Amino acid sequence: MDKIYVNKLSNYIDSEISFSGFVDTIRDKKWVQFVILRDSTGKVQMTIEKSDENNAKLVEIVSNLTKDSVIKVKGKLVKNDAVKLGGMEIIPSSIEVLSKAEELPFDYNNLDGVNIDTRLDYRWLDLRNEKNMLARQVESCMVEGMREYLYSCDFTEIHTPKLIKTASESGSSVFKVDYFGGDAYLAQSPQFYKQMCMAAGMSKVFEVAPAFRAENSNTNRHATEFTSFDIEMSYIDSYEDVMDFEEDLLIAGLTKVKERYGDKIKELFGKEVIVPTKPFPKIRLEDLCKIFKEKYHYDVPEHDIGDMNADMEHMTYEYAMEKYNSEFMFITDFSKTKRPFYHMRKNDVPQGYDLIWRGMEITSGSQREHRYDELLKNAKEKGLGKDVEFYMEFFKYGCPPHGGFGLGVDRLTMLLLGLNSIKETQLLFRGPNRLTP
Ligand code: 4AD
Ligand code: MG
Repeated sequence: MDKIYVNKLSNYIDSEISFSGFVDTIRDKKWVQFVILRDSTGKVQMTIEKSDENNAKLVEIVSNLTKDSVIKVKGKLVKNDAVKLGGMEIIPSSIEVLSKAEELPFDYNNLDGVNIDTRLDYRWLDLRNEKNMLARQVESCMVEGMREYLYSCDFTEIHTPKLIKTASESGSSVFKVDYFGGDAYLAQSPQFYKQMCMAAGMSKVFEVAPAFRAENSNTNRHATEFTSFDIEMSYIDSYEDVMDFEEDLLIAGLTKVKERYGDKIKELFGKEVIVPTKPFPKIRLEDLCKIFKEKYHYDVPEHDIGDMNADMEHMTYEYAMEKYNSEFMFITDFSKTKRPFYHMRKNDVPQGYDLIWRGMEITSGSQREHRYDELLKNAKEKGLGKDVEFYMEFFKYGCPPHGGFGLGVDRLTMLLLGLNSIKETQLLFRGPNRLTP
């Protein structure tokens, strides 16, 4: 394969090269044709002098060329300071059309006013937009930074099954699938299996994988399938250790993103990547609600008492910025009625937290209950029986104290770039009304 990428072209000045890419723009002037070519790393100009008789065939090919076709060009790469794109241009000797593009259904360079569903129907075209391209790179970089940090802390990456026998965790909605005439479910979280790894003695594990939620809700932050970045670690003393670890993990990820893409994010999205400092502010839910009442005259709706909702998440951000100049805030001491049975409790208070970033929950975490008898008590209280029997078994044969958290990758990307909704954030959005492409 002889593909040379745009960002490596400067190594080939004055050489005969072959370059393949998309036709980004065509400017057919009286005396000259300019074709801007594009690959995933940038753009380069190709220039054809019409007056040169040897170019007759090339001129004809370019005259029939359509935008976004993919072509392969052979020619000489020369320096030309007058060319804005990298001060170089390709002078072609041959052009081969590898794939001819039809007229595009919309201009991906100008998505203002293009319906989001049209964009999603043609997501592969929508992704050609420079911002959407950057979003993918930023997400990859964030995950890379976090992964690297975990490897440096001796974590083991695991891959847990997504097809499971029982509706898991908290009875929150799961997808049922036909399994050779019987029922199976899609995992809403690797929760039980990452805990199983703790019972196995693996100490520190993580997984980056899809999680499925059969929630028929259309919000800007919910998808029916999303990517969950899950951590579980043993021998902790309290959930404070888990929060502390998450701080380091996010700092590692955001540092990498800022270094590599900080300027580009600022340029295209107008967002500053802010690497937070430790420790992030923490507040008990009850204290937070008092502040909401005093500051914003906000009364928590009856059904949300002991829990958070979207309005409260927004106010948390406002308050955290104002009081601590922090984009992040941990909230602790939720009501046991609102938290899953596997959270350890102390004096009836779940030993867990949510982390709010820029006004949205990005994480739920906790110390887990590793003592069989206590776990059984919690499960019974929640009315969970048969469904969690297999999970209860994990704690019968020795299991270290442990805790962990789940971090929504899609939400991280969305908040990092200040995008309006998870629909335009996910590579391919999955929601109640969308299963294609
Ligand atoms: O808060 P959640 O439901 O927590 C759990 O999954 C637990 N088992 C804890 C764990 O250790 N995994 O999900 C964790 C995170 C949320 O904070 C949110 O960022 C994201 O996953 N998330 C979603 N993202 C997009 N669409 C949805 N429907 C999401 N549900 C949760
Ligand atoms: Mg949660």
